[in-house]
Amino acid sequence: MRISVIGCGYLGAVHAAAMASIGHEVVGVDIDERKIAELAAGRAPFFEPDLQQILEDGIGSGRLSFTTDIAAVRGAAVHFIGVGTPQQEGGYAADLTYVDAAVDALIPHLRPGDIVAGKSTVPVGTAARLADGIERAGATLVWNPEFLREGWAVQDTIDPDRLVAGVPAGASGEHAAEVLREVYHTAVAKKTPFIVTDYATAELVKVAANAFLATKISFINAMAEIAEVTGADVTQLADAIGHDVRIGRRFLGAGIGFGGGCLPKDIRAFSARAEELGRGESVSFLREVDAINMRRRDRAVELVVAALGGSVFGRRVAVLGAAFKPHSDDVRDSPALDVAVRLKGLGCDVVVTDPAAVPNAARIHPQLTYADDLDDALRGADAVIVVTEWDEYRRHLTPEHAASLVAGRIVVDGRNCLDAAAWRESGWSYHGMGRP
Ligand code: UDX
Repeated sequence: MRISVIGCGYLGAVHAAAMASIGHEVVGVDIDERKIAELAAGRAPFFEPDLQQILEDGIGSGRLSFTTDIAAVRGAAVHFIGVGTPQQEGGYAADLTYVDAAVDALIPHLRPGDIVAGKSTVPVGTAARLADGIERAGATLVWNPEFLREGWAVQDTIDPDRLVAGVPAGASGEHAAEVLREVYHTAVAKKTPFIVTDYATAELVKVAANAFLATKISFINAMAEIAEVTGADVTQLADAIGHDVRIGRRFLGAGIGFGGGCLPKDIRAFSARAEELGRGESVSFLREVDAINMRRRDRAVELVVAALGGSVFGRRVAVLGAAFKPHSDDVRDSPALDVAVRLKGLGCDVVVTDPAAVPNAARIHPQLTYADDLDDALRGADAVIVVTEWDEYRRHLTPEHAASLVAGRIVVDGRNCLDAAAWRESGWSYHGMGRP
């Protein structure tokens, strides 16, 4: 099938390459010339496992191409919209400028019978608003949200746990759902759940899923706050409640909280949209979820300050991690980087290291000191804080090796990912999040 993908950021670039990898002929379009030049040369513009390989394969096979010329979408049967919907400047709502611009640019090139598939995360009601102009061109709009996790984006796109298609009522909607089944033929052959619904439900599935995940993380972090004043251990608590299959252990990792390009902005945009709909109170708990999440960053800083005797001024602290999560070089709304910035603001001599995210972090926070090498970051540090649970810190770094480099054996485990007993046995003063 011939497919176009408009917007070649995280979502679009992965989607384009993944669609080519399952046999489609794909053109990716973006207005960012630098990004398109990278992709066209077969280079992944960001770190994402397997992306490099499927890009090279797609371009090598001749089935995958990239351009800044929107006219190249002509002839594709399905046009995916994968542009960003960032948080508005000075507000909580989503900024739909890029979605609107992409649809406006696409419409003159649509042919009757084409399918436009929206993948961007949008406020409920957006698809209904966009459908008119697309239908006037004889095409049909479907809303097909994406649930990919960074670090697993390629796998999640090719082999998702569910597919959702919001379609208009009637024959055009049924046809559009059929076409999407052909697009996702490999997942459909594996009997992946395929939910066909209306626009509003499809849009809400995405924001509801992210709101639930954010709430789950803030729930366990709220328990961590209670654990901190009672001497309980939140990790054992999470293990114990996680055995209940109705609860489940995943996303009960207490620590410095969630960040990234999705969860924070999606719950804020959801709150803003609910307010517009006169139902702000229905999701008012999301404000609390956000507040709990932000408090965890303060808590991590407090732990470092307390461990260093009440002040970090002039003290050297090794910050292990900058990415918002491991297997990613993404530092958007990264709690890890935020903790580093806050420590720096207190006069602390921070040295930040990360296996993948140092270049991105240095671009937005040039005031911090960075070390590419873990040992260089640790050397001479008065304290160490782990803020992204990379295997490099969680599994490969031994307390003995770290002790041979640092000036002071103080470790704050911002992700509760270290073996506390092993670090203590090696003479370290270990401080977890919500742990005695
Ligand atoms: C998320 C959703 O999981 C995905 O389905 C959606 O499509 C996009 O948003 P992603 O942003 O890649 O994906 O990250 P995710 O793995 O969900 O982690 C989000 C944040 O929560 C990270 O900062 C992570 O460190 C944090 N987290 C996750 C916790 O603090 N505790 C946990 O137990 C799990």
